[in-house]
Amino acid sequence: MGRLVVVSNRVAEIDSRGEASKGGLAMALSAALREHHGLWFGWSGQASAAPGPANVRRNGGIDVATIDLTEDEIENYYNGFSNRTLWPLCHYRPDLVMHERAYGAAYAQVNEKFADALMPLLREDDTLWVHDYHLVPLARALRARGAQNRIGFFLHIPWPARQVLSTLPRHHQLVQAMFDYDLIGFQTQGWLDAFEDYVVEELKGSLDGAGSLTALDRTVRAGAYPIGLDMGEMRAMVASEAARRTCATMKAEDQQLLIGVDRIDYSKGLPQKFAAFEQFLEDEPQWREKVALLQIGQPSRTDVEAYQQLHDRLLSEAGRINGEFGTLAWAPLRYRAQSMPRDVLTGAYRAARAAIVTPLYDGMNLVAKEYVAAQDPDDPGVLILSRFAGAAAQMREALLVNPNSREDLADAIRRAVEMPRAERIARWKALYAGVARDDLTAWRQSFLHDLLGDRPVGGQDP
Ligand code: UDP
Ligand code: G6P
Repeated sequence: MGRLVVVSNRVAEIDSRGEASKGGLAMALSAALREHHGLWFGWSGQASAAPGPANVRRNGGIDVATIDLTEDEIENYYNGFSNRTLWPLCHYRPDLVMHERAYGAAYAQVNEKFADALMPLLREDDTLWVHDYHLVPLARALRARGAQNRIGFFLHIPWPARQVLSTLPRHHQLVQAMFDYDLIGFQTQGWLDAFEDYVVEELKGSLDGAGSLTALDRTVRAGAYPIGLDMGEMRAMVASEAARRTCATMKAEDQQLLIGVDRIDYSKGLPQKFAAFEQFLEDEPQWREKVALLQIGQPSRTDVEAYQQLHDRLLSEAGRINGEFGTLAWAPLRYRAQSMPRDVLTGAYRAARAAIVTPLYDGMNLVAKEYVAAQDPDDPGVLILSRFAGAAAQMREALLVNPNSREDLADAIRRAVEMPRAERIARWKALYAGVARDDLTAWRQSFLHDLLGDRPVGGQDP
């Protein structure tokens, strides 16, 4: 029986309980590997002048192997092609996409480097599961080195429409590389449809109606596998001392709290959220001093200019709104540009009357699901959710909004703070049932089931 080998750009530090932090992907994978005895391979997050072979160690019950990158590789592969080219492209921001020859070259080269370092660690019967946009060409590089293993790929972010993708120079090459996987997973049917459309229209390929796509003389399977939460972990966090303390402190305040938790990323719609909250304060003076928005902004990709500019803009906007509406005793918008531990976040979710989760585009958005999972069943809060988050396909009982419309969102905030308890409970019950059913285990099992057919995965020995 083979191992599960997970490969992703970011391998978070894992603590003694086998838990990791930083972004939805790291969260999901640490839990998956804890259950399927396996190896996690990726970038160490470190720069080194002359990177050597992978550093293999045991961390929190998981075998972890990492490689360093050079400063140049970090700049051109990670900040460059991954985060200045692919990320804005996949999040429908062609205005922010940067095209540099050095980015594409480093992207190909780092994927080759991953393959070189991973090959000696692989066993014939390992199953590989590669994650996210940093590593699209990895299967191609592994196959060129003789790897015959089953290899799956999961994209955590949106797959853009054909018209947007085709603005990328060498877009054919990128998609062609995906045909070296056995199975490709997307978060939603919508992103899968966009991929199929590209294959049919651009590559003149065909679909067999049962999940297989043929183009360029190759066949690959593709499906939609919406990622979910580790519900056991969520329950433990809700019960944790840190969550209870945070919740109690926040509930003791004499006002309703709205909460937002996002990486400081232009895809998350943060300026739009601030503007809508301002509109709400403008339109509903009776709610002033009775409502506050707590926005956690987790610093992210701080070497990339668009992220730096957003960070500055949010600080000044929050200051302006507080200056405009605040009083000596009340700050309407509490913006904290700092990461928070997840157990503390869980307490804050539970204390908040509503969560405002309004990305302009998002592959899934785990914060929306965490908010629902953290609620008190007797007095749950309201989820305000962007219809452009992957999560909206599943979470139909949320207040679905268009985050580009300030009025639409301001109106949803009013509905949320005024919503009677019976309606809050009815909506929450339906949302919770979905979150509990379509959890992390369901996601992992359905993907691995389709990747392996009926072959089992997850041996006992490392
Ligand atoms: N998160 C965290 N601390 C923070 C902000 C966020 O631990 O200060 C976690 C959050 O609980 C969630 C993840 O980071 O599990 C974010 O995942 P999501 O899918 O919402 O967005 P992504 O960052 O992956 O785009
Ligand atoms: C999103 C991406 C992940 C990424 C995470 C944090 O969740 O899908 O691949 O790891 O953001 O971003 P970072 O650039 O810090 O790894």
